[in-house]
Amino acid sequence: MRIAHISDLHALDLAGASPLRFLSKRFFGWLNLLRKRRAAHPTQLLDALCADLGRQPLDHVVVTGDLTNLSLPSEFRRARQALDSLPFGPRGVTAIPGNHDVYVWDAYFGRSFEKNLLPYAQSDDAPKDELPTWPIVRVRDQVAIIGCSTALPSPMPLADGWLGGRQLRRLEELLDATREHFRMLLIHHPPLPQHLDLLRALRDRGRLHKLLRRVGCELVLHGHEHRDLRGMLDGPSGPIPVIGVGSGTYNSPHLDRRARYNIYTVEGSGKDARFTVEQRVHDPQSGQFVPSPVP
Ligand SMILES: [Fe+2]
Ligand SMILES: [Fe+2]
Repeated sequence: MRIAHISDLHALDLAGASPLRFLSKRFFGWLNLLRKRRAAHPTQLLDALCADLGRQPLDHVVVTGDLTNLSLPSEFRRARQALDSLPFGPRGVTAIPGNHDVYVWDAYFGRSFEKNLLPYAQSDDAPKDELPTWPIVRVRDQVAIIGCSTALPSPMPLADGWLGGRQLRRLEELLDATREHFRMLLIHHPPLPQHLDLLRALRDRGRLHKLLRRVGCELVLHGHEHRDLRGMLDGPSGPIPVIGVGSGTYNSPHLDRRARYNIYTVEGSGKDARFTVEQRVHDPQSGQFVPSPVP
């Protein structure tokens, strides 16, 4: 199995957005968009990313949130269009939300992410039109992909996350039920402490740590920080790798932050499967994604 991990696409599209939609936290987000983010995540990088993914021999793509900036309908349409452009179909792509996908309360309660990206966010056994209840689970060969939602419409300047008791209980059940598989957990917020934790943390990560220590997991993938991160959590039979990937569309002058994604090759069967990881990074000269020059 070859599985690509992309994150933090921040698809930009303000087309047709009513001024009324900006009478909220979105107003400050919109100012930030005009000031920085529009140039930071240009749409041509999203197109280049999708084109590169389409050229790779992949069995699956996972997307760990922040597909939009302000949770606008036009942004969800743009993000959906990007996923639809991939040659893998909804069975071959799994997406979870980030904090930018529930930027305001009406997107959170209106379930904008789930409605717009439904085919990419459904458990295998879910009825066709039923909105997902997090966490979701999808089994592909020896890999069980389990996706959580930590997304909250927190007031500015917070960008924190929360799993909650109900989701944590269900997560433990799913991890236990899939223990014969290579379990890949998708979560937007980093489960390990980061800088600016006061503003951006996964609030109940301590409970997640205890849960993983009990039931285990083979790999945890996250986004949110727009930089590559690696760490370990304790598991019942050894350490659990935790790997964050930088944004797939970040137009940074710095090589270590530039748009990127990871490809995991999972070999072997069941929970004894092992993985290797390679990275592709955007090259501003050619406009293409290329193998990372950093080993
Ligand atoms: Fe992000
Ligand atoms: Fe985020």
